[in-house]
Amino acid sequence: MSRLDSFIRRMKAQSDILNYVSAELALPPEGAILEVGLGNGRTFDHLRERFPGRRIVAFDRALVAHGSSVPAPEDLILGEIDITAQAFAGQGAALVHADIGTGYADKDAVTLTWLPQLTSALLAVGGIAVSGLPLEDSLLEPLPVPASVPADRYFLYRKRA
Ligand SMILES: C[S@@+](CC[C@H](N)C(=O)[O-])C[C@H]1O[C@@H](n2cnc3c(N)ncnc32)[C@H](O)[C@@H]1O
Repeated sequence: MSRLDSFIRRMKAQSDILNYVSAELALPPEGAILEVGLGNGRTFDHLRERFPGRRIVAFDRALVAHGSSVPAPEDLILGEIDITAQAFAGQGAALVHADIGTGYADKDAVTLTWLPQLTSALLAVGGIAVSGLPLEDSLLEPLPVPASVPADRYFLYRKRA
């Protein structure tokens, strides 16, 4: 599969899962949405459309988002996520979306040394994690993804008690 087709499949999987979460899954009534990897801000824009009224906090090492998709200053956290997001641990996020895979196995392996545990610490019990990388953590229960999402393309979890 070409990288273009792989990218399209990843974006479709991301959109399908986030739409499924917004339409079908109950989120904890309180708690922010955390966008882990703001990038261009396309997903941030999608999240604020799908979850109106929720605070959305976005993380990245630098601001590279399109001007139409820049979070308010208090909702934009710049720096290395494994460090900056620690300040949000225990605050009970309702949804964490993490799109920080690189396509390089060695780099993603380093990310996976901290992302699963961090995601678990960020979420409220009952909160949802949506991730482009698989998150292995004892408190993150894998959930089935919509039928349109190819296996192992994008991942969905709920934090158990
Ligand atoms: C694939 S892009 C996210 C795309 C985003 N979903 C969008 O709608 O454009 C991943 C982003 O995460 C950021 N990122 C990846 N790993 C990071 C880390 N450890 N700390 C801070 N930022 C990171 C990168 O700088 C990049 O902007």
